[in-house]
Amino acid sequence: MMEFLGKIYNWIDVRLGTHEIITEKRTGYLLPRNVNAWYSLGSVLLVIFCLQIITGMLLMLYYVPDIDKAFDSVSFIMTEIPLGRLVRLFHAVGSSMMLLVLLLHMFSILFMGSYKSPRELHWLTGFFLLLLAMGISLTGYLLPWNQLSFWATTVATDCASSIPFIGENLVELLRGGKQVGIHTLGRFYTLHVGLLPALIAVLIGVHLFLIQRTGVSTPPFGLEDTSNQWKGESFVYEEHPGGIPFFPNFFLQK
Ligand code: HEM
Repeated sequence: MMEFLGKIYNWIDVRLGTHEIITEKRTGYLLPRNVNAWYSLGSVLLVIFCLQIITGMLLMLYYVPDIDKAFDSVSFIMTEIPLGRLVRLFHAVGSSMMLLVLLLHMFSILFMGSYKSPRELHWLTGFFLLLLAMGISLTGYLLPWNQLSFWATTVATDCASSIPFIGENLVELLRGGKQVGIHTLGRFYTLHVGLLPALIAVLIGVHLFLIQRTGVSTPPFGLEDTSNQWKGESFVYEEHPGGIPFFPNFFLQK
């Protein structure tokens, strides 16, 4: 089996130079010598987001976005579909985990000061990711169409009414009417499976691009700092000479 996989890898490598990508871009990508576990949280978020996409697509195979059928379709997934209960709970718990890890990621960045110049844009893109993650969780919560989701959405959308001048219109726009109903479900479903995941994916791409451009920050504690820190005059990629290679050392925690 391993030999077969090795042959496939070689076949691709000869054509695309994948080995060079791994050695230069991953093994050559050095992290600070005092890098700590908090730096893994961004990658944990990436994994959770991918798992949410996979489990979400599986749920879409049976979920029906119609107020007369939504609740029954979710019950059907939970009781009749093999592993349906597992996939649904994975998706539901995954969304809470995503928000929890997001908060921990922000917390670590705050106490290590990694949001400071030149990383303002990292923070800004991250902040929009947080808003989108909250949006995708809220829109997903309505989809089972049970009492809890109905009233939670009624209360959450009602909050928008406190915005001066446009509040009432905004609530109506979100709900697609005066009350949470058939049009709210349609809107939330479209946002949840279409627009929001696409926006999050694009913004994660921008977030990672920014991190690649500046390099990761150096933690303000631990071993002596040997990086070439940004001084504010011109663009500098923060290098970490003698640092830990991202792959395989940091990636596999070796
Ligand atoms: C789905 C959401 C997010 C993903 C997938 C993500 C991913 C990542 C990854 C992979 C890193 C590099 C390694 C690390 O420090 O963990 C990182 C760094 C960073 N993230 Fe996020 N992030 C997300 C949300 C956020 C949020 C909500 C904020 C803040 C509002 C934020 C601000 C930052 C900053 C400032 C850095 C640079 C840290 C440094 O250079 O040391 N991110 N993110």
